[in-house]
Amino acid sequence: MTRPFPQGFLWGAATSAYQIEGQPLADGAGPSIWHRFTHTPGRIANGETGDLACDHYRRWEEDIAVMVELGLTAYRFSVAWGRVLPEGRGRVNQKGLDFYQRLVDRLLKHDIQPMVTLYHWDLPTALHDRGGWLNPDSPAWFAEYAQVLFRAMDDRVPRWITLNEPWVVTVPGYLDGEMAPGHRDPFEAPRVAHHLLLAHAEAVVAYRAMGRQQIGLAVNLEPQHPASDTPENQAAAVRRDAFINRWFLDPLFLGRYPAELACIFADAWPTWSDSDLARIHTAGTDFIGVNYYSRGLVQSVPGAWPLGAIRVTPTDARCTSMGWEIYPAGLTETLLWLTDRYGNLPLYLTENGAACDDPPPLDGQVSDLDRVDYLRTHLLAAHTAIEQGVNLRGYFFWSLLDNFEWAQGYAKRFGLIHVDPLTQARTLKASARCYREIIRTNGIV
Ligand code: FCB
Repeated sequence: MTRPFPQGFLWGAATSAYQIEGQPLADGAGPSIWHRFTHTPGRIANGETGDLACDHYRRWEEDIAVMVELGLTAYRFSVAWGRVLPEGRGRVNQKGLDFYQRLVDRLLKHDIQPMVTLYHWDLPTALHDRGGWLNPDSPAWFAEYAQVLFRAMDDRVPRWITLNEPWVVTVPGYLDGEMAPGHRDPFEAPRVAHHLLLAHAEAVVAYRAMGRQQIGLAVNLEPQHPASDTPENQAAAVRRDAFINRWFLDPLFLGRYPAELACIFADAWPTWSDSDLARIHTAGTDFIGVNYYSRGLVQSVPGAWPLGAIRVTPTDARCTSMGWEIYPAGLTETLLWLTDRYGNLPLYLTENGAACDDPPPLDGQVSDLDRVDYLRTHLLAAHTAIEQGVNLRGYFFWSLLDNFEWAQGYAKRFGLIHVDPLTQARTLKASARCYREIIRTNGIV
């Protein structure tokens, strides 16, 4: 039996600038906090950096040819802020902007719709050194940068995403310190989150005045299940749900933060102005991008910081090489939950994928059968949600290419396309061939 997807459903793949481009300082670009972080000893597995990555800054034409071979109808990428505005504000670096304009033009020539993320974590160091996302001016900086891109490309970009995963910017960036800029401060994290929400709002307000297409926000979501049905574990799962799933969406759609956050952060939780919350709520969003990888299984552990709970993995679970449980039913659950709680708004799966220990290429083939299975089972789960009324309009596999996986470096491979670290040769994996067939038939058997 074939399960058809709606007519016009977008079939895409996703990447981000720092993870694939390489040459982060080429053609007058200003450095980002990720450039600084990867060049700080001890931060990244094996001391790896994004200096070369997939060399996409030079090989972008070859990469678009691969997208054409796959039959993609959409491609999600991010713009490196510092390529366009080397000091973060003010002077535009035309060469940097032109790189993205050429990319967009070539995609359109092949009927591949660009989805452009404005911020996928690579804040210019020039702005970080002025306080970065802790500075109350940061939302205005972001809106200024966004307007440069709207002005240059809104005639050709049908969908914009303001921020990718503000939760990851906030928690690994400012609370756990595992990602750039590597701070560990419970007093900083809530302020960063608030400024990110305001940054989204300011960009949307600017967009309403000058843009003609659609603008949204991409969030990482995962259903939180109690590890057992004890009242302690159930309460812990609710706390983690507030912390991960509702921290950004409740203010956006309901105009308030989840009450649990004030308990979690205690004296580090500020009092927010009603006018800020009203601004975030009123700006809203045209759609939500959902990044889905796994679920959370939550066990109460009194004293565990900051939630009084930890995430556990069931003993019989199948996991990806990130150690994330493979749990496709959680995708259906997440999409239904979003629709129930916040309304039937347009949704895109802006990321979904798996790091696997792929066998090396043999005779031009990579037999990544675990990724094939992940792709198929998650698409079936998405299809089930569509059948139940969810307004899902497109799917973007993470990722097009094996790339630089942040603090984990290059060891974790998420690509449909294998990238040889020495020669940079691109090879289609079995998952790419499977995806091509799904796209060709607009359905899954
Ligand atoms: C998401 C990020 C993306 C990639 C995947 C594996 O959180 O948005 O850049 O690293 O995880």
